[in-house]
This record gives sequence, C-alpha cells and structure tokens, in this order.
Amino acid sequence: LHVKRHSFPTRRSSDLLAQGRADELLSLLCLARPLNAGGATCPLLLAPAMNREMWSHPATQRNLAQVVADGAVVLGPGHGDQACGEVGDGRMLEAEELRDELIAFFQPKVLAGQRVLITAGPTFEAIDPVRGITNLSSGKMGFAIARAAQEAGAQVTLVAGPVHLPTPRHVRRIDVKSAQQMHDAVLPLAAQHSVFVATAAVADWRPASSADQKIKKDGSGRMPTIEMTENPDILAAVARLADRPYCVGFAAESHDLARHARAKLLRKNVPLVVGNLGPATFGRDDNTLLLVDAQGDRELATADKLSLARELVREIAS
Ligand code: CTP
Repeated sequence: LHVKRHSFPTRRSSDLLAQGRADELLSLLCLARPLNAGGATCPLLLAPAMNREMWSHPATQRNLAQVVADGAVVLGPGHGDQACGEVGDGRMLEAEELRDELIAFFQPKVLAGQRVLITAGPTFEAIDPVRGITNLSSGKMGFAIARAAQEAGAQVTLVAGPVHLPTPRHVRRIDVKSAQQMHDAVLPLAAQHSVFVATAAVADWRPASSADQKIKKDGSGRMPTIEMTENPDILAAVARLADRPYCVGFAAESHDLARHARAKLLRKNVPLVVGNLGPATFGRDDNTLLLVDAQGDRELATADKLSLARELVREIAS
C-alpha cells in the first residue's frame, strides 16, 4: 500500500506501475513480484490517495485502467475532505475500511457470481404512533452473513428491520419496519436472487388496526384489548415461488432446538434450516448454530457471529 496522505506525491505509483518502471523501491517491488511462479501469485492492491482533480484527470484514469488490466485491485478511493482543503473523490479509504477490504480480499470466492438476499433484525408492529410490538433480535447474525456473503464474492441485498448496525461494505441495504413491509420488499426481489437467507425475527402477529392517535388510559385500570392478526410468512412465501432461490431458514427457539428446527424445515419446505437458541444469542457477539437438512443435524461450535457466518456461507456454497 502506498500511503501518501498529507503531501502531494510528485510521482504517482499508478503511473510508474502503468509504465512498468522500477526507478524507485516501491514500483520495483511491484514489478518484481511473482505473477505466476508455480501457481504462487502475489496480488497487488492499491489504495489511491490524491487530490480530486488529479484523481479525475484522464492521465491518472488511463494509467489506473492499465494497472487494473495488468491485474491490480484498487481499493476506493473514498470521497470527502482532502488535505489541500478541497472536497471530492480521491481520499484514501480510512484505515479500518482498508483493513476490512484486505480481509475480504483474502476470503475464498465461493459465491462468486451469485446474488444473495438476506432478511435481518426484528420487525416493529405499530399499536399507535408511540407504541409497538417488537423483539430482542439485534440483527447481528444477519448482518454478519451479509458481510460474509459479500466477502465470498456475492452481490448482496440486505432487508433490515429496525437495528442499530452499520451496513457491511458493498452491501445494498433496504430498511423496513413491519413484517408486511419486509414481505413487500422481499417478494419482488426474491426471484432475482440465487440464495435467500431469512435470519429476521419476524413478528408473527400485528395489531389488526393501528390507532392514528396515542391510546389513552380510560381509568378502568384495564389494558384495552388489542386484536391481533397473523403476519405473512416471508420465508414460506419465497419458498413457494416457482423460480425460488435456494432458501435458508433460521429457527430461533428457547428449547428443543433440533426438533423444532426440523419441523420448520418440513413445514416451510426449505432445504436448510439453521437453529439457534434465541434467548442465549440475541444481542450477543457469539452464537452456536445447528444446521438441519435432509442429511441430518450438524453443530457449528460456539464462535463469533462473523466466523459462523463464513462457515455457513461455505455450507450454502457447497
Ligand atoms: N419467518 C418469516 N416470516 C415470518 C415468520 C418467520 O420469514 N412471518 C422466517 C424467519 O426469518 C426464520 C424462519 O421463518 O427464517 C423461522 O422463524 P421463527 O420465528 O423461528 O418461526 P415461526 O415460523 O415464527 O414459527 P414458530 O412461531 O412456531 O416458532
């Protein structure tokens, strides 16, 4: 990585690389690296850092296109304030972003060319303008799967209920609140995807009607009766599509995990159900998963959610 942040580079690495020049140490190292020595290649990743005019100049873009054609991978650049005081494209990605890009680069591309649709988080079913019914799902598992699938080369669409999580890099995110909104967002997209992973903790019921104004106490000491109606089952609806994607369900249970997970596999007619104990994992950074399919049950031992997500992605790919 060539990091020149607060000074104007007199010679840009991409220009030297484009010409195959080796008149300074860095470009020499890049030129001398093995491209295919007995199968061993040394990838080259570039994180450009320059003024927006330099970045957009045809000469820079021409040289960049050349180094990309020669096999280099370009990370960023970002957009925003520049050392010179201007604002625009050309900022080096932040260090944490570069770290995540590097980690992603080295993941096996087992889902290259695939499109993956994921639901995540809880849903929120409004009772009135200030109250609603929701659950303790944090969305962390679904967001981890979105990141892992993207790292594995997939194009990922994430339909998220109300959660406080940053969107994984290069993932398209659609925010929804209620189960009905999640259903309406997912159904038209499902057939364009090859894999659907339903991690969302979708509320099973919603108030039959949501009050326009806050419901006030009536002095009787009794809570008003709220009539409930069942929400659509998003996973089952996707699994019924004629051109359905490969469907993965989650089963969040409080007990009898294997039995309930297998029942859901059959009831929702999906090839894979991933069981976990909801109360033991909601909001936490780690989890234990039980994979249930036609072959049997298999446990993925307790680990952080991103590691489990990567294992699950490999499983789905195979
Ligand atoms: N699911 C869904 N839409 C719903 C309910 C559930 O898409 N309305 C999906 C979940 O995202 C999960 C799977 O179905 O992938 C199982 O969800 P879960 O809440 O564990 O099961 P339920 O179908 O609600 O069954 P039960 O109430 O018997 O536990």
